Amino acid sequence: MSNGVEREQWGSKLGFIMAAAGSAVGLGNIWKFPYITGQNGGAAFVIMYVALVFVIGYAVMMAEIVIGRKAELNAVGSFAKLKGGPWVLVGWMGIAAGFIILSFYGVIGGWCIKYILASFTGLMAAGAAGTAGDLFGGFITNAPQVIIYQLIFMLVTIWIVYKGIGEGIEKYCKVLMPGLFILLLILIVRSVTLPGAGKGLAFYLKPDFSKLNGGVFLAALGQAFFSLSLGMGCMVTYGSYLPKETSIPGAAAQVCFLDTAVAFLAGLVIFPAVFAFGLEPGAGPGLTFITLPNVFAQMPGGAMWSALFFLLLLVAAITSSISLLEVVCAYFIDEMNWSRAKAAWVMGLVIFALGVPSAISLGGGLKIAGKDFLDAADFLASNILLPLGGLFIALFVGWVWTDGAKKEITNEGTIPFGLMGPWLWICRVVAPLAIAWIFLKGLKW
Ligand code: TRP
Repeated sequence: MSNGVEREQWGSKLGFIMAAAGSAVGLGNIWKFPYITGQNGGAAFVIMYVALVFVIGYAVMMAEIVIGRKAELNAVGSFAKLKGGPWVLVGWMGIAAGFIILSFYGVIGGWCIKYILASFTGLMAAGAAGTAGDLFGGFITNAPQVIIYQLIFMLVTIWIVYKGIGEGIEKYCKVLMPGLFILLLILIVRSVTLPGAGKGLAFYLKPDFSKLNGGVFLAALGQAFFSLSLGMGCMVTYGSYLPKETSIPGAAAQVCFLDTAVAFLAGLVIFPAVFAFGLEPGAGPGLTFITLPNVFAQMPGGAMWSALFFLLLLVAAITSSISLLEVVCAYFIDEMNWSRAKAAWVMGLVIFALGVPSAISLGGGLKIAGKDFLDAADFLASNILLPLGGLFIALFVGWVWTDGAKKEITNEGTIPFGLMGPWLWICRVVAPLAIAWIFLKGLKW
């Protein structure tokens, strides 16, 4: 179990918040949130999403962090230590989800690297000529290129995880994230002042509740878990490095808020532009990559803005991908006594290989039962494994390990937690029933 080395900890409370927010804020906010919103009808989806984040997401996030900080172990080891029995399976399911998510996450991370370079070689011309979609299509059908960029992205991820949380993860999370936030604000100004932007704002902000159905609920639930990095033990793992004095409810609230803010701002950039340029909001995984070049082409110094944007998006993606790899590695380090170097390199390269079918699927039409391979992997992980993981984590805190959780969230009774009643009630009843209901209504391939 323990290799006798004292467990590393975050350097400060801010260090944890930055790392957890770094995990949460990523491609999920800027690549995935807009296209899922676009596919699910706009504003009504956004409202559902925000409600799910702050009721269920926040509660599950606190549950995960509490479990991890108490056990001071990886996702599997934490459940084994606190209770054991079948609960260990929750941790296992999380590790599996981590493999699947990182496999396709690396592909999209690679797209960002490609787009940094393309900013200087034709992306602006394509944006100006309205052919950004063709450029994107040309890129994703070029399998070797997509795979090479995916590999570069994975190598960077592996290298940072191999360096360890103190020097590695925390350092990279503290820098550059505020830059992404500011850049989004600048892009919003450009986007909403485009002629025809109003229709996009209406799509994004004026709800049409007739568009809600089971599938939309499930998409919102899956997106909430994905974006907040919940349901697979990621926050368990990060919580295990959290000093005992830190207040968990406050830290979790800040992470939920920051994550939602970034996603919301990304939508404010994308949708006005989608409508202004006559693009299709339901275009799918390419939406952000097809829309933004049009926006940059309308800005003085567009190539520079474009490169800067995709660079910051890459950084955000890396602070997320390292958290995914860290979940997997923490297991092999804690439980198998692997060295950090071995865990990072072996597992990172295995996950890269698992991602190759996703890398070639969007361009080449590699499908599983009618869905592109990448979409299928995402659906299985985000819309099934993560909510299921969240359901069991909520039940664990709500019914099984409740006294322990109460002690840990109040730091052994030393700090008050005003939302104890609602939190436990959400874990016991609301979250499990809501997730079960959404599964019943929405689960179809
Ligand atoms: N939340 C990240 C994003 O939005 C992705 C991510 C990182 C993740 N760690 C996770 C998703 C753990 C699910 C579980 O880009």
